[in-house]
Amino acid sequence: MEPMIRLDAVSKHYPARKGSAAVTALSETSLDIARGEIFGVIGRSGAGKSTLIRLINLLERPSSGRVVVGGIDLTGLDNSKLRAARRQIGMIFQHFNLLSSRTVFDNVALPLELAGLSRKDIRSKVTPLLELVGLADKAGRYPAELSGGQKQRVGIARALATEPKVLLCDEATSALDPETTRSILGLLRDINEKLSITIVVITHEMQVIKEICDRVAVIDAGAVVELASVEQVFTRPKTEVTRSLLAVVSGDELPAPLSARLTREPVSGSAVLRLRFTGDDAEAPVIARLSRSHGIDASILHGQVDAIRNASFGTLVIAVPVSGDALAAVIRYLENQNVVVEPLGYLAADLRAAS
Ligand SMILES: Nc1ncnc2c1ncn2[C@@H]1O[C@H](COP(=O)(O)OP(=O)(O)OP(=O)(O)O)[C@@H](O)[C@H]1O
Ligand SMILES: [Mg+2]
Repeated sequence: MEPMIRLDAVSKHYPARKGSAAVTALSETSLDIARGEIFGVIGRSGAGKSTLIRLINLLERPSSGRVVVGGIDLTGLDNSKLRAARRQIGMIFQHFNLLSSRTVFDNVALPLELAGLSRKDIRSKVTPLLELVGLADKAGRYPAELSGGQKQRVGIARALATEPKVLLCDEATSALDPETTRSILGLLRDINEKLSITIVVITHEMQVIKEICDRVAVIDAGAVVELASVEQVFTRPKTEVTRSLLAVVSGDELPAPLSARLTREPVSGSAVLRLRFTGDDAEAPVIARLSRSHGIDASILHGQVDAIRNASFGTLVIAVPVSGDALAAVIRYLENQNVVVEPLGYLAADLRAAS
């Protein structure tokens, strides 16, 4: 099936200006986003995330390449056709961008006024949207009277007013606390299911990707460095950038007392391994089996099991008192159990007891 969104070799260069060098914010990027998908884009600050999302609705014009949304090549449209095509694409923002002088109702009504609808038609569209986002009782309030989460709900209702096929979210939950973030992400998921809207989520937080996305692209320095299902990226990250973004959510950050004791050079004592489990393996007693089959007393130093959608995954940091060929055999054994093994270093014998 034809994708909902296609970027075809899209680049964006910003020319040099006084005091700043030229920047390639996105280079030769091609990707397809399927209809009905919730697609995430993650990367560090300055990686090019906002540039990428603004290219999808042509808030930024690409320097080269094509942007096709719903089968229409936006890059080939004149301004009036582009304005019409943009009604297919809603957008929400980190700081909500509401008009403070307008009520909740009138904020949501704004795109419909601009499209020239009658007051009656506007009412018949705005009322159900406010119900959908859970703000039916706040129609007459002003933005200053709302919480951050409620403001974002207004932003979502406004973005949906023109019945778009695509919703773009640029750091839409970055200004919200974790609980409010979860409720907004839940609402986005609801909207995706109820209205079959394709959603693109830009974030620097893996937690957000984990909660709602189907697939995720990791971008770094203006290029997609990894693109796969969320399960795949969380359990089998391929790049250093992805691993460091994951470190925050997946328990990769070792406790400081432990990392302070790790040495790179082998010492007599234990090798420290990070194990990544995925799916059914996350619950399998791999460590118990390792102890039985190799007669090894593995100690668990650190660990976390988590869930993505319906799949569970986990990381476990263990110390095994072996080296050389015996260590290689342990690693082979674990890999055969479908565990991804990453050697982290060594712990001296006396220190291991103390950890
Ligand atoms: N209008 C502009 N003029 C010049 N350079 C720009 C412009 N917009 C963005 N850039 C540059 O392009 C690069 C990518 O910026 P972008 O805003 O897309 O990053 P980001 O991933 O969204 O970062 P953040 O997480 O901080 O929002 C940066 O180096 C930025 O300085
Ligand atoms: Mg940004």
